[in-house]
Amino acid sequence: MQILYYFTFIFFHSVIIAVESFNETINDVNSTDVTTQFSSTKSDTNDILTLLLMGDTQFHFPCEEDNVQCKLASKRPRAFFQLDNRLEFQPGTLVNETLRQGKESCIRIESRFANRVQRQALDLLISSLDQKPAALIINGDLTDFGHHHQLQEFRQFWYNNFSIPFLLGLGNHDYENNINDCALNFCAHTMLSWYAEYVKNRSLVADIERKTINFDVEFSGSLAYTERVCSSSGKTCAFVIQLNNAIDYSVSFSSVFVQWNLTSPMKYVHNELNLLKGTSLPILLNMHKCENIHIHKVKMMLTRWLAGIKTELESNKKMPRVGVFYAHMHQRHEVHLHCIQGIKVPFVYVGSVPNNRFSKFDFNGVNGTVTGYKARDSLLHNGEILEKLETIDLWGPCDSNEHYIFADHVTRKRWLHLRKSREQAMKVNS
Ligand SMILES: *[C@@H]1O[C@H](CO)[C@@H](O)[C@H](O)[C@H]1NC(C)=O
Ligand SMILES: *[C@@H]1O[C@H](CO)[C@@H](O)[C@H](O)[C@H]1NC(C)=O
Ligand SMILES: *[C@@H]1O[C@H](CO)[C@@H](O)[C@H](O)[C@H]1NC(C)=O
Ligand SMILES: *[C@@H]1O[C@H](CO)[C@@H](O)[C@H](O)[C@H]1NC(C)=O
Ligand SMILES: *[C@@H]1O[C@H](CO)[C@@H](O)[C@H](O)[C@H]1NC(C)=O
Ligand SMILES: *[C@@H]1O[C@H](CO)[C@@H](O)[C@H](O)[C@H]1NC(C)=O
Ligand SMILES: *[C@@H]1O[C@H](CO)[C@@H](O)[C@H](O)[C@H]1NC(C)=O
Repeated sequence: MQILYYFTFIFFHSVIIAVESFNETINDVNSTDVTTQFSSTKSDTNDILTLLLMGDTQFHFPCEEDNVQCKLASKRPRAFFQLDNRLEFQPGTLVNETLRQGKESCIRIESRFANRVQRQALDLLISSLDQKPAALIINGDLTDFGHHHQLQEFRQFWYNNFSIPFLLGLGNHDYENNINDCALNFCAHTMLSWYAEYVKNRSLVADIERKTINFDVEFSGSLAYTERVCSSSGKTCAFVIQLNNAIDYSVSFSSVFVQWNLTSPMKYVHNELNLLKGTSLPILLNMHKCENIHIHKVKMMLTRWLAGIKTELESNKKMPRVGVFYAHMHQRHEVHLHCIQGIKVPFVYVGSVPNNRFSKFDFNGVNGTVTGYKARDSLLHNGEILEKLETIDLWGPCDSNEHYIFADHVTRKRWLHLRKSREQAMKVNS
């Protein structure tokens, strides 16, 4: 059996003062033309822009079943509290408060294990690179439910102490899932107000406006943002656009004295892409989820955009480079290269913490690639904490759609096993 299809996108934040950002964007496009030409001889291909990407730190959420090292870490407490591999109570268990609390503590054990292992692997990778990555992009679900203590743990474990900047987005678990399901909407409010403070502190120009009406505060906008990121020399750059939960997600709700009117980032992306139509710098559209209807909308939008700009870019020997990066489905770590208007547009599941996977994006001024990684616990793997998976070329002319699934040696072994049992079953049947 072939292993399924999946996809999607990222997040964006728009602009409070549109004119200002317009000027900035136009300047960016002009000043970067030299390094972005498709057939450029001037660009220095030893100068590499690197970004790291992952999703779903999600304090606190169980590991993926396939994350064998993590399930080993929770094995004894799981047995004690009568929980199976998926943290469900074994059949026939009489569930009482002790067991329920035991389950919660097993979830925390797994979540902290996966975050710790992921953190160690990223620290090692970053320290081993000649050029430091420009940022770690986390595409949503920073927390499991937006509770204050969950955000505190995210802040302590990642945000307050990491060697490279963060480009963060929020996911359904940070706000969508807890709206009207958390006292006074305080969970969603906690996450959104922290996030608004984050974009402000980092001088990210986000699409959010704050107004005071009588004694109440009202926030409106999509919370999307665009950030130009460059290699340490400043010569090789890309645009990172963050759209948060999904391309078409919008919601209005109130918490104590605060009204949140969150709009879909669709209009924001549309405007940003129009401002960026002259660039062949990579444009990385980030969001949390991009399945089903979401990927359809993203593809439609990119199809229209590319149709409008392709001829002009090509006559200048330039090549549009746009890709879509997302998380949400924890077990997925894969790249779909879709042909849109005859060029490759990568749709990438960047990997999740509960699966201990992440991705590295590299751009040398000409070619862009994504490399998958599996993070491993040093205690269980003789100090080997990084398993490098495949590297996929992202852009160029496109003949037919391609699909790659990142496999580590454990998943490869399982696929082999599945194939063998299938072959055996066929022999018996024939
Ligand atoms: C945008 O650029 C124009 C022309 O250079 C300038 O007159 C204007 O003040 C700029 N606007 C902002 C907001 O920087
Ligand atoms: C961008 O480049 C074009 C053509 O070289 C020039 O006409 C235009 O004024 C430039 N814009 C800015 C904002 O520098
Ligand atoms: C709950 O069930 C477990 C296992 O059956 C038992 O060891 C524990 O004492 C029970 N706790 C309470 C509060 O009844
Ligand atoms: C910050 O992170 C480093 C590397 O993971 C760790 O050694 C150090 O103890 C952390 N510091 C704090 C204050 O948490
Ligand atoms: C923003 O900056 C203030 C002042 O430095 C700091 O207290 C706060 O924790 C920061 N918040 C975030 C989300 O970075
Ligand atoms: C925000 O939502 C509230 C409640 O739906 C509405 O009364 C208000 O007009 C909205 N504000 C904006 C700027 O859309
Ligand atoms: C870019 O990729 C093409 C095709 O794989 C390869 O021939 C070329 O050498 C690469 N150029 C650079 C600068 O990496």
